Amino acid sequence: MSIANIDKKNIWHPFSHYHETRKNIVISQAKDEFLYDENGNQYIDSVASWWVNLHGHSNPYIAEKIAEQAQNLEHVIFAGFTHEPAVTFSEKLLELLPDNQEKLFFSDNGSTSTEIALKLALQSFVNRGERKIKVIALEGAYHGDTLGAMSVSSRGLFTEPFHPFLYEVCFLPLPTVENERECIAQLEKVLDTQEAAAFIFEPLLQAAGGMRMYDANVLCKLVELCKKHGVITIADEVVTAFYRTGKFLASDQLSSTPDIICMAKGVTGGTMAMGVTSCNRWIVESFETKDRSKTFYHGHSFTGNPIACSAAVASLDLLETSASEANRKRISSFFESFKLDLEQNTMVRNARCLGHILAFEIEAEESNYLSNLRDWIYDRFLEEGILMRPLGNTICFIPSYCISQDSLEHIRTATFNIIKDLSGNQ
Ligand SMILES: Cc1ncc(COP(=O)(O)O)c(C=O)c1O
Repeated sequence: MSIANIDKKNIWHPFSHYHETRKNIVISQAKDEFLYDENGNQYIDSVASWWVNLHGHSNPYIAEKIAEQAQNLEHVIFAGFTHEPAVTFSEKLLELLPDNQEKLFFSDNGSTSTEIALKLALQSFVNRGERKIKVIALEGAYHGDTLGAMSVSSRGLFTEPFHPFLYEVCFLPLPTVENERECIAQLEKVLDTQEAAAFIFEPLLQAAGGMRMYDANVLCKLVELCKKHGVITIADEVVTAFYRTGKFLASDQLSSTPDIICMAKGVTGGTMAMGVTSCNRWIVESFETKDRSKTFYHGHSFTGNPIACSAAVASLDLLETSASEANRKRISSFFESFKLDLEQNTMVRNARCLGHILAFEIEAEESNYLSNLRDWIYDRFLEEGILMRPLGNTICFIPSYCISQDSLEHIRTATFNIIKDLSGNQ
């Protein structure tokens, strides 16, 4: 049996319908922005393999650090033990985070990083003997697939089977200028109850919710209002950290710094599974007690894995090189000009750019996640040698920083070819 057939028989894949007729593409190798399948076909990975890859696939510097670490110390329990890669990573990361961030908690993905943020926030009030039981989030949000992370995510198709099990959350509209009055009025209503514990948001970009971009102004007002009322603010930077939106964090564009920051996806440059939740003094303080019942009883088997930490250190080294910075500038300016071209096309709606991310919608009647159009677009990009995973009819490019100018040009040409085909088909 072929790899694809054994895979189909044995393995359950994420977000994949049971009756999916297509077989999974078997990738046998990857280098820089390219994936190669078992038949030698090449695909440009225009979505950095679910937005995780920062420096290109099989980066030799990260690979070397991983190999060295794997031969020295591959893993050790992180309760009661520590190691140099974790400590080095903590020093390097804290240096790059806002000054108020004091301590890091490691986990293994984005959902756990947000779960930990929420649990830290909620328990910090319990530890202080304060009854704060309400959590605030934004409509359209996505914070992960575990039950707690799902609770603070927008209710929809993905969460529907679990609605009876999700805790109640106060959802505010997306903080745009048009929604400002409503946002503030709704937030004030929750704050009046004196029961709000935490406000979680994806700063500047709701990624899985459809690459919805919004500016910092109204969000800053919400964050400031929360801070004034002692509500813990949590920035979910799982997608946006590590310069995805231009600055190291999207929160670096806010005038008010969040209390907790969640990072994952790009932490290790997209090589090893790792999540990080950082927090400020106020949170740390509420756990600094001799009372054992006030311990943060949370952990994962692979918390602080040394290989992941070494990869994370290597990724930060690469991010700080002038070559990476130049590449990021090149991608941003390419996307800005690509966006202008897209705006001239009548099939395109709402072309938008943020840092090194470009997104737009295709004009279509069927626009929900289940539409056939989504699959058609996905297949057409594959035919053009590009992996681009649409979100409904939202097309989005979020490549690794090493992507070549030729590959960017190919993405632009292919996009317009596909749009042209689509206008012929409609
Ligand atoms: C903003 C945000 N938070 C959390 C998550 C969950 O991350 P993971 O898939 O690593 O659990 C995602 C995933 O896309 C995300 O976009």
